[in-house]
Parts: sequence; structure tokens; C-alpha cells
Amino acid sequence: MTEKIRILVADDEKPIRDGCQRVLTGHGYEVLSAENGKLALDTLAREPVDILLLDLKMPVMGGEEVLETVRKTYPDIPVIIITGHGTVDTAVECMKKGAYDFITKPFQINQFLIVIRRAADKRTLEAKAKLFEEERLRNLHDLGLEKSRIKTIVNCMGNGVMVTNRDLEVVLHNPALMRLLEISREVSNPAPITEIVNHGPLIDTLKRILSGDSPQQESTAQEIPAGKNVLRSISAPVLGPDRAVLGTVTVLENITAFKQLDQMKSDFVNMVAHELRSPLVSIRQLNSVLLEGLAGPMEPKQQDFIGRGTKKIDALLELISDLLDVAKIEAGRFLQRKVPTDIGKIIEECIALLEPRAKNQGIALTFSCQELKPVHADPKNMEEIFNNLISNAINYSPGGGQVTVTAKGLGEYVEIRVADTGVGIPPEEVPKIFDKFYRVKHPKTRQVMGTGLGLAIVKGAVEAHHGTIDVESVVDKGTTFRVLLPAMTSSFTA
Ligand SMILES: Nc1ncnc2c1ncn2[C@@H]1O[C@H](COP(=O)(O)OP(=O)(O)O)[C@@H](O)[C@H]1O
Ligand SMILES: [Mg+2]
Repeated sequence: MTEKIRILVADDEKPIRDGCQRVLTGHGYEVLSAENGKLALDTLAREPVDILLLDLKMPVMGGEEVLETVRKTYPDIPVIIITGHGTVDTAVECMKKGAYDFITKPFQINQFLIVIRRAADKRTLEAKAKLFEEERLRNLHDLGLEKSRIKTIVNCMGNGVMVTNRDLEVVLHNPALMRLLEISREVSNPAPITEIVNHGPLIDTLKRILSGDSPQQESTAQEIPAGKNVLRSISAPVLGPDRAVLGTVTVLENITAFKQLDQMKSDFVNMVAHELRSPLVSIRQLNSVLLEGLAGPMEPKQQDFIGRGTKKIDALLELISDLLDVAKIEAGRFLQRKVPTDIGKIIEECIALLEPRAKNQGIALTFSCQELKPVHADPKNMEEIFNNLISNAINYSPGGGQVTVTAKGLGEYVEIRVADTGVGIPPEEVPKIFDKFYRVKHPKTRQVMGTGLGLAIVKGAVEAHHGTIDVESVVDKGTTFRVLLPAMTSSFTA
């Protein structure tokens, strides 16, 4: 459509054509004219026209015939019939055949302009509606394209994808999901969740997500056995624009190979550690026999060498025992048996064992303890925890100082603090010290022997007992480790 409304006046009377031209141009319309029906159709075929003013009685081709063709070929163009008094009946006929309106000669200018304006408005509105419709169709097309693109991507993914609605019905799943869950039959759409998933904990997770109980940004990971495979699921809420939970999305991954590798690694570490340990223990025993002079007297130099060798063997044995502990923690087998355990007594025993070393280094080692509720725990694990923490406190206080161990009840927990006045840990190192094999490089503690496994074992043991551990440290001032362990409640039956 042109910017100005363009009107074609088809009339064989020149004064009418000229009159229309003058009046309409004066009112901002663009005007074309034709002196018979045939020429009018030629003009329509040649250029765009918005409104046709059509005289009924014209030579060559009359208005009725033109109207018929225009209705068929250009149905959008409103046709206004120009009639004389004698042809009003015919004009009414034309209206039935689809003419938009009619005006009678001689024209009343105002009336004439009103009719033209109405037709022009109709034309403009229709053109706008057409534009909107085109845009809507284009958007629908784009949306459809996007949808089919996403569908193709989801269908080609190696990971399983499953989307449920609020009613926990599966509304989208891909071939990988069916393959991983070993489902070969057709499932309905939407399918009740139990038709696809038969793992209770996963269904519980999805229910919890839908209830809005879990934090909205968080996703939940789970391991799911499926035939010979182990799958890992990650589930999260699907949120609407107002952050309401609309459904859930779960991605499934086959982690069987990782699991097998992990198992192989644990088996390997276990095997190597055991194979190494027994000969080392024998060598150590033989060394003790030599050192005690049971195999004959020894020169001081020989004694010194054998003594140094024994220290290296002890370090190796410690590494092996730490490696075995880590392997046990990773396999979830570190915690063996839980009994009501008196934490105060365990710490006292550790202190008694480490006292000589502290004294040797000029460290004052003290322990204070309030009446404590027992903890339902593996005593060996507890020994491991406090041995490591107190040894570290002594080891990493090279200039002497103070190591203070305190234990007290804290609500439903027992809180144990191991504080030292040693070298401290730089803030950027703190997050790494619980990692396996991680040791902070410090010139003053370079001579301290260690494996970097102690704190990894401590953390694993604390967490296996549903406890927490954190650390506060200031470089050159000291470090405090704080362990919280859930205490046994009086109603607890061991
Ligand atoms: N009380 C402490 N004060 C300062 N640094 C510590 C303390 N405890 C642990 N660390 C740092 O954390 C590292 C890891 O400790 P740990 O896992 O017990 O391994 P290891 O003692 O065998 O090096 C240590 O090497 C040390 O750098
Ligand atoms: Mg240590």
C-alpha cells in the first residue's frame, strides 16, 4: 500500500473524472482515472490502487462486468459504485455482489467525502491487520523452527533428558533416556512418571522439587542403578517467568565406566599398600633386633645408620597406612562400627601419646574438657581425627609455643577445638589443605615429614559421622581447627 490512499476513478464523463480529481486531490488523496471499464482494469493490472470509484454505465466495458473481475482478482480493493438516479436498483444489486458502497450523481460533496473516507479507513485498517497477520505467521514460523531445532538437539544428545510437568507426568524425553533406562516399549505422552522411572529416591527428589521445598537454583545429583549400569541423575526445577515451579528437568549420564575405574584404582592402591607393608614391617623388626644388640654389639656409626633407616621406614609405613585410610574413606568403608564413645577419653589418650613430642619441641600441650555427652562413633576414626589435628598443631609450631585442646557440649553437638600458636596458614591456602596430598610450602616447616593425607582423612572421618570441620588461621599467630560432632541424645538407644 502506498503512503497516500490511491483512488482510481472509472467514469466515461470527463466532468465527473475532473471533479473527483479536484476534490480528492484537495483532500490528500492520489487520484488516477480511466474513461471506460477496460482501461480501468488495465490500470489495476499495472499499478497498486486502494479504492475503485466505478461508474456503472460506460462504453466498451460496463461497471458490472468490471466489478465482477475486481472482486475476483483484487478482493481487497473496496469498490464504490457511482450511479445515476435511474440505476439505483442496479447499484443495490452490485452491493449484493460485493461492492463496498454506492454514491448517486450528482454528488453531495460532504456525503461523497464521507463515503470515500470510510473506504479509505477500511483499506488502512485491513492493510495493518494484514501486516500483523504476516508478522504473527513469521513469529510462529520462527518459533516452530526453534522448537524443531531444540528437539533435534535433545534427540541427538548422548545424555538422557526428561522433563515433567507439575503433575509429575513426563512431557518430554529423548531416545538416550529410554536407552539408559532400558525401556524398549512405547510410552504414552504425557506418561505418568512411574511408567518411565522405577527408582523411588529419584521420584522423591522430583516431588520435593515440585513442592518448592528445595532451593530454586540448586540441582540435585543422585546415583541410580539401571541393569548392569550406574547412572547419575541431575534434577532441577523448571521455573516460569514469575519464578513459580512449572515442572522438573532431569539429565541422566552413564557413569559405569568411571565407577569401574574408581574401583580399579581403589583395588590397586589396596593391593600395592598391602604388598609393601608386610616386607617393610619385617625390615623394621629386624632393625629393632639389630639396634637392641640382640644380634651382637654394634658400632655407634652402624647404630646411627640403622636408626636413620628405621625413621624412613616409619615414614613409609605412615604413608601406606594413610593411603589405605583414604582408599577406605573413598569406598565408604572407613567407618566400621559405631559405639557410644567418650570423646574426652579419646583425646586424653592422644595427648598422652603426643606429650613427649610436644615437650621435645618446647610446646605446652593442654587439654580442658567439660562433662560431655557421648558420641555415637567409631573410636578408631576418632583417634585418627584427633591424632592428626594435634600432631599437626605440634608439627607446624616449629618455634615452640602452645597447643590448647578444648571440648565442650554445644546444643546437640560436641565441639572440639585444637588451637596452636604456630606458623598459621595463608588465607588462599586454607581451601586446599583438606585436599589429598596438599601441603603448604613454608620455609620454617620444610623439615616436617608428612604425606598431605592427614586432613583429607580427618575430613572424611568427620563427615562419615555427620559432623563438620572448619578452620580459622592467622599467619604467624596460629591456627584453630573446630570439629562439631552430633552428640547422642538421651532418648538414643545404641
Ligand atoms: N595446625 C596447622 N598449622 C599450620 N599449618 C597446618 C596445620 N595443620 C595443617 N597445616 C597445613 O596443611 C597441610 C596438610 O596437612 P595434612 O593433611 O595433615 O598433611 P601433612 O601434615 O602430612 O603435611 C600441611 O602440610 C600444612 O601445610
Ligand atoms: Mg598431618
